[in-house]
Amino acid sequence: MPRVTTATFREKKQSGRKITMLTAYDYPTARLVDEAGIDSILVGDSLGMVVLGYETTLAVTMDDMMHHTKAVSRGTRNALVIGDMPFLSYHHSPSQALTNAGRFIQEGGAQAVKLEGGRERAETVRVLVESGIPVVGHIGLTPQSILQYGGFRVQGKGEEAADKLVDDAVALAQAGVFAIVLECVPKTLAQSITSRVTVPTVGIGAGPGCDGQVLVIHDLLGLYGGHCPKFVKRYVELSQQIHAALRQYKEDVEAKAFPEEQHSYGG
Ligand code: KIV
Repeated sequence: MPRVTTATFREKKQSGRKITMLTAYDYPTARLVDEAGIDSILVGDSLGMVVLGYETTLAVTMDDMMHHTKAVSRGTRNALVIGDMPFLSYHHSPSQALTNAGRFIQEGGAQAVKLEGGRERAETVRVLVESGIPVVGHIGLTPQSILQYGGFRVQGKGEEAADKLVDDAVALAQAGVFAIVLECVPKTLAQSITSRVTVPTVGIGAGPGCDGQVLVIHDLLGLYGGHCPKFVKRYVELSQQIHAALRQYKEDVEAKAFPEEQHSYGG
């Protein structure tokens, strides 16, 4: 199977086939996601919360992202790997953004980068795209602005806020992004942004009208014990299964039921 590209994203929007995307942060998970035929793997800065144990994504560094993006790239053959640019890695100037986006491609092995923000990021997007780096935009709830929002809440409510989000999406599309993540946006607004822009939208908490869907894999697999947002569908409760396995292991070792003959070397 050939690698999914930005052209695949475009074709899927044009033909009405949904784009699938999940996060992954390490080699074995990337392999599982890739083998399942998911179109794209986002090495999200949600890494900070679901893997590194921070309360927000703000502490995540370029070095953290490089470490995990390299591992994901090693585990991926077909999916398009997108590296998420962390807080303050692209805010200073387009030239800072280019240096850091370049690291995702050259060192990290990603095929694209994602950055948060609307029209205020248009110039940065232009510089990256003109340098040959495919970019995904991200509007709606942008977790790197959590201190400004004062909490994780639905964005784009009310006419003014909705108009601003539409303008942001149009500005990002004009600047050259190949897709836009819409996070925590009312479904009707997400639907109207999707029909307004020619690039695909990928929703998370943005309803069924987007061109694709993305979820944090720890949420989908029931691996993350923290708050579970309304938009998450848990496909399995892995943390319960893991707890049961770990308790059984402890019991077996303490009861001398493990290791058995077949787990031991002879001679
Ligand atoms: O960091 C992340 O995982 C993301 C997704 C929630 C879109 O940005």
